[in-house]
Amino acid sequence: MIKAAIVGVGRWGPNILRNFVSMDGVQVVRVCDLDEERLAAIRKKFPAIDTTTRPEHVTGDSRIDCTVICTPVASHYALAEQALKTGQHVFVEKPLAASAAECSKLIALAEERQRIAFVGHTFKYNAGIRAAKSYIESGELGDIYLIDANRTNLGPVRYDVNALWDLASHDISIFSYWLGGEPCSVSAHGGCYLNRSIEDVVYATFTYAGGVIAHVHASWLNPRKIREITVVGSKKMLVWNDMNLSEPIRIYNKGIDKGDIYSDTFDSFRLSIREGEVMIPSIQLNEPLLTECIHFIDCVRTGRQPLTDGCDGLNVVRALEAATDSMRRNSVRVPIA
Ligand SMILES: NC(=O)c1ccc[n+]([C@@H]2O[C@H](COP(=O)([O-])OP(=O)(O)OC[C@H]3O[C@@H](n4cnc5c(N)ncnc54)[C@H](O)[C@@H]3O)[C@@H](O)[C@H]2O)c1
Repeated sequence: MIKAAIVGVGRWGPNILRNFVSMDGVQVVRVCDLDEERLAAIRKKFPAIDTTTRPEHVTGDSRIDCTVICTPVASHYALAEQALKTGQHVFVEKPLAASAAECSKLIALAEERQRIAFVGHTFKYNAGIRAAKSYIESGELGDIYLIDANRTNLGPVRYDVNALWDLASHDISIFSYWLGGEPCSVSAHGGCYLNRSIEDVVYATFTYAGGVIAHVHASWLNPRKIREITVVGSKKMLVWNDMNLSEPIRIYNKGIDKGDIYSDTFDSFRLSIREGEVMIPSIQLNEPLLTECIHFIDCVRTGRQPLTDGCDGLNVVRALEAATDSMRRNSVRVPIA
């Protein structure tokens, strides 16, 4: 039986708790939150689980095999560091930490202690995102020209990080997963409307190898909840829409055949537009978070390298740092190490 604990049961932590409780061979022994009211709600639902307002009673307890850290980003590093030093495996919610330097230290510590450092890049466990990756890799879409992501909603507004760190972190992890590499550079622009120094809206454009552009519009100040990404390829185009639960992917056999674009007459330009059929693949839907939790526990049991390991967390934080730098410097293009 693997003994697990969770630190932070605000909005997202209870979802992780629910999935951990549902897994065979896992026992959630303790839940921690600084807010006693959050703990009272947990005790009401799960009376057998011990609760505490003292994080060190989780991260310092060597009888606990693994700890999930689901607190605001600023506290991720200190909590994960203490848990790893105690000999626990850690599942840290995204973004892994508040800086690339902190991420690197966690990776080194996990290696030294031979423990799993796992980051909650949930969309890599999403069946639609995985299916889109296989279409991209199979060459079905042709050469990838660009990716365009929209992740908007009205709230929830955060006070600790901006929309880039909170929302676009998901899209960066998806872009890199799909393209099989990390971004080379970024230019970003943001707007602060609700708080003087926290960007509620961010537009960030990453470049990847081969000149692929990946753009994300991330906002918690928008009337509509949109979770949509368009991939434009030389042969076909794919749209992933996470709000369409039964049919998250559409593949459009549409395009503009390049050779004709530069011809002189308007007629031949029009002829070059290809308006083909739309294919809606059948996708076996899962709860991404459950798939993610099962994978984490499997890695703890077997020592297998996670799909979303510490290096994955570091790569996303590096891209976030570069995008932050760009926003602070008038959207200048910043290389990503
Ligand atoms: N993977 C995903 O899809 C996803 C979705 C939502 C949030 N998240 C991530 O989960 C984390 C938490 O987000 P949230 O929306 O639940 O935030 P939240 O503010 O709603 O909840 C955070 C909770 O942590 C508690 N807390 C703060 N500092 C603590 C500490 N040092 N020790 C113990 N408890 C502490 C707070 O009292 C609060 O209850 C963030 O890193 C966020 O980016 C991930």
